[in-house]
Amino acid sequence: MKYVKRILDYADKNDLYPDMKIIDGPAEPEVFIDGRKVLMFSSNNYLGLSNHPKVIESAIAGIKEYGVGSDGSRLLSGNIKIHREFEKAIAKFKGGEDAIVWPTGYAANLGTISALMNPFKVGPQDFLRFKGVIISDELNHASIIDGAKLSKQIKAKYKHRDMTDLESQLKRYKWRRKLIVTDSVFSMDGDIAPLDKIAELKKKYNAMLMIDEAHATGILGKTGHGSLEHFGLRTGKDVDIVLGTCSKALAATGGFVVGDRDLVRFLRVASRSYMFSTAMMPAASAALIKALEIIETEPQHRIRLLENSDYLRNSFHELGFDTLTSQTQIIPILIGDDRKAIAFSRRLLEEGIFGPNVRWPAVEKNKARIRFTVMATHTKEQMNKLLNACKTIKKELNLT
Ligand SMILES: Cc1ncc(COP(=O)(O)O)c(C=O)c1O
Repeated sequence: MKYVKRILDYADKNDLYPDMKIIDGPAEPEVFIDGRKVLMFSSNNYLGLSNHPKVIESAIAGIKEYGVGSDGSRLLSGNIKIHREFEKAIAKFKGGEDAIVWPTGYAANLGTISALMNPFKVGPQDFLRFKGVIISDELNHASIIDGAKLSKQIKAKYKHRDMTDLESQLKRYKWRRKLIVTDSVFSMDGDIAPLDKIAELKKKYNAMLMIDEAHATGILGKTGHGSLEHFGLRTGKDVDIVLGTCSKALAATGGFVVGDRDLVRFLRVASRSYMFSTAMMPAASAALIKALEIIETEPQHRIRLLENSDYLRNSFHELGFDTLTSQTQIIPILIGDDRKAIAFSRRLLEEGIFGPNVRWPAVEKNKARIRFTVMATHTKEQMNKLLNACKTIKKELNLT
């Protein structure tokens, strides 16, 4: 175990170990950290549904009906009615034939990419098959990268949102089985993948396309159905695999894939993170069904989130901050230097604001940033408090 200590010593010496503050209370704009009331600007509870009274009521009803655990894998004793009801609801919400749900979004990515790209061998032709290739945007989420690693196929990256580079990778691997995979909203930069163009390239080069709707579901598109609605694309046709998490705007836990019936049937018997893991809490499915219903019937949360995001991003620009390519509720401000980013976050906390810094290896070297996220439930006053604090700290740290 000596190497463990050596690594920890290295992390401590270079201030790399995360602060990991203990947070008390629900994911509201104000939380308690170390007994102090602090403004939260880092939550994924974008629409505020995690503590919406109707969602809480549904979760409680779910616990009363099913208890707290699923008590088994979906293939065995955990195939509970409420999970199937959520699958049907999310399939309808995303406009696909069917859906399958994992306990987390991480497990969904891991289990989907590895199952699709390294499938069982059921005939002699499968033993002779060439390796497939996973062509991934360089800024994709870690769970996509880990799914690609687990698939044991060829891994190729294209420059962030760069269609010329994607096309050159598609040409390079023309004769192989190809999976293009991209976040639809990028988790660290808050920008949107050009899915209309990616869908065209997918067709031209006969590739499969998978998107991760973690930060788009409930937000993008005219009625919050996500990036397919935003771009006018069809599930199962323009995009083969629509994956998402239930842990952001949907406010609970879980991960899903929506797509054609055969894709879903296949994943149920090929995705190891689905087969060999206990299904998520039944109450999570109950809460998620209600969250989807609220997104359909109460558009005010989404509208408020969009207004808040625009206000905060524009105000940061007025103060001279670089918000990189952010177009959504994820709004980073670029600091650059790691130590300054750490100092910035710590000073924010002294001012009563939680805004964590993100550094290498989570983002590129010298691109350390403070990653803010906005919620529909933030008030103008709370956002102004954040802006004033950032203005002061910028001066103190001599940031240009
Ligand atoms: C783009 C993306 N995909 C997948 C995940 C993993 O989802 P979960 O937190 O539900 O495991 C995240 C979570 O941070 C994410 O941002």
